[in-house]
Amino acid sequence: MITPDALRSTYLEFFRTKDHAVISGKSLIPENDPTVLFTTAGMHPLVPYLLGEPHPAGKRLVDYQKCVRTGDIDEVGDPAHLTCFEMLGNWSLGDYFKKDSIAYSWEFLTSADWLALDPRKLSVTVFMGDDNAPRDEESATHWKAVGVPDDRIAYLPASDNWWAAGPTGPCGPDTEIFYWVGEGLPPAGSNKGTDPDNWMEIWNNVFMEYNRVDEKTLVKLPAQNVDTGMGLERTVTVLNGKTSVYQTEIFQPVIASIESVSGYAYGSDPVKDSSVRIIADHIRASTFIIGDPKGVSPSNVGAGYVLRRLIRRAVRHGRKLGIEGSFLSAPAGVVVERFGAAYPELVENRERIMGDLEREEAKFLETLQKGEHEFEKMLPNLLRNPQKVMSGRLAFKLYDTYGFPIELTEELAAENGMTINRAEFDEAFKKHQELSRAGAEQTFKGGLADQSEQTTKYHTTTHLLHKALRMVLGDHVAQKGSNITAERLRFDFSHPAPMTADEIARVQAIVNEQIGRNLPVTMEVMPLEDARNSGAMALFGEKYESVVKVYTIGDFSKEVCGGPHVERTGVLGRFVIQKEQSSSAGVRRIRAVLE
Ligand code: ALA
Repeated sequence: MITPDALRSTYLEFFRTKDHAVISGKSLIPENDPTVLFTTAGMHPLVPYLLGEPHPAGKRLVDYQKCVRTGDIDEVGDPAHLTCFEMLGNWSLGDYFKKDSIAYSWEFLTSADWLALDPRKLSVTVFMGDDNAPRDEESATHWKAVGVPDDRIAYLPASDNWWAAGPTGPCGPDTEIFYWVGEGLPPAGSNKGTDPDNWMEIWNNVFMEYNRVDEKTLVKLPAQNVDTGMGLERTVTVLNGKTSVYQTEIFQPVIASIESVSGYAYGSDPVKDSSVRIIADHIRASTFIIGDPKGVSPSNVGAGYVLRRLIRRAVRHGRKLGIEGSFLSAPAGVVVERFGAAYPELVENRERIMGDLEREEAKFLETLQKGEHEFEKMLPNLLRNPQKVMSGRLAFKLYDTYGFPIELTEELAAENGMTINRAEFDEAFKKHQELSRAGAEQTFKGGLADQSEQTTKYHTTTHLLHKALRMVLGDHVAQKGSNITAERLRFDFSHPAPMTADEIARVQAIVNEQIGRNLPVTMEVMPLEDARNSGAMALFGEKYESVVKVYTIGDFSKEVCGGPHVERTGVLGRFVIQKEQSSSAGVRRIRAVLE
């Protein structure tokens, strides 16, 4: 038996013995990265360093990171897919490469001093090569050197063995490690290529030596990096001899809580079991998202919308188990309890988690009631239709206007001896989706962690703005959020009242004055404590490494920050505040551009 807490600490310990610095995982909401809604991999917060910036903690790093991926949301419910998971990761920033990376992974997995997995139950894949990069014989050779037999090595195409976090950014061929989840021992010749269903991926080592600049351009990075990600939930699964993440103690207590509120015994009905798994996954994801230091609340846009969908889907599956009223707070409480040691923010934010969940659940239950009521109003008319078919257009109206899910309309229709013209509904739905997808794609415009000149300028401008706000409004001003695209900056800060026109003009003038002075921007690496003592601004409640970078802008500002920044303020252009508005209670938001 190995617990998730034990696996996290064993992993960190192993890499510490290999001279890796332990760094802390970051927020689920990426800082200054408008291109993705959530942190999707352990490497995400490290993108600037993979692109070549020196990391203050050195060239060998290790951590654990909470992640959210909603691309596979429809597969959640099967035994292996999760929207929220933890990734154990180790990195080499231009230090060791394929040989050591493979040797470390193998030692950690198979050595009796570490995880002691049976090497006969492991197999790997390597990149088969294409126009972008050659066949990865080198990795295969290193695998053979540690003892992996030829027939456990599969050469697969880029769709399997090329890893990139986004349409642009650092990427490269990878080698993936799988554990046998079939019966007994794997037969000779079995590997991920020949027998994909019986092998579960547990670890991915990416050899990140490229940067995708745009669709057509792949350039070599300044250094050959290694980025690895081990799935904590899956590894706990195989280490405990299970075949599904939901059988482990990561999910069992959450499932027990769902059993007790629903009265349904997990394992008695395959369809209901899938609902239980969906609820368990979604409630864990929602708890982590709301409980993040940069917590998100349910809303109709961006990350808040994803959160809303997760909660509502959990509620719907609750109804499938026969639960009528609110029920999410019990399993959410279990998540806080089980994961609070590794993620103390869950405990700190328990009230917000419970409050947001309860409000959203109540709101959705109201939506359901309203939808049911609307359906009943339509019913006499519908029943007059001799074919007993409800038009897809009407079903879509219920969905679009009242947020009433189609599955429920179908259920109500069936209860009244009717069917729905599903093709018509699907068509209306598809059109609606295409429109919203067009919106979502905008989010990806700049690629992952856009490092363009323009965003760099906005980073530096944000420091100037932060300081100018404190000068004009007072020292109570603290950064609450920052979001930068190539077109603008957005800055949220604590301040109890709307700014006056005069205050806005003064802040703008101060920033422009500093730009006019063409101040030098310099960076120093120092222990966090020294940084704080030197008067550098740091975000309250933000987790920092013990050694941090401090950016100083002339005699004007000093802030703890990962960068990047411009070299002198003179390149910034003219600073214009376009909007000042409320963001939430006690928090104001400024939107500004450089002209
Ligand atoms: N970044 C790699 C992944 O997420 C390790 O699979």
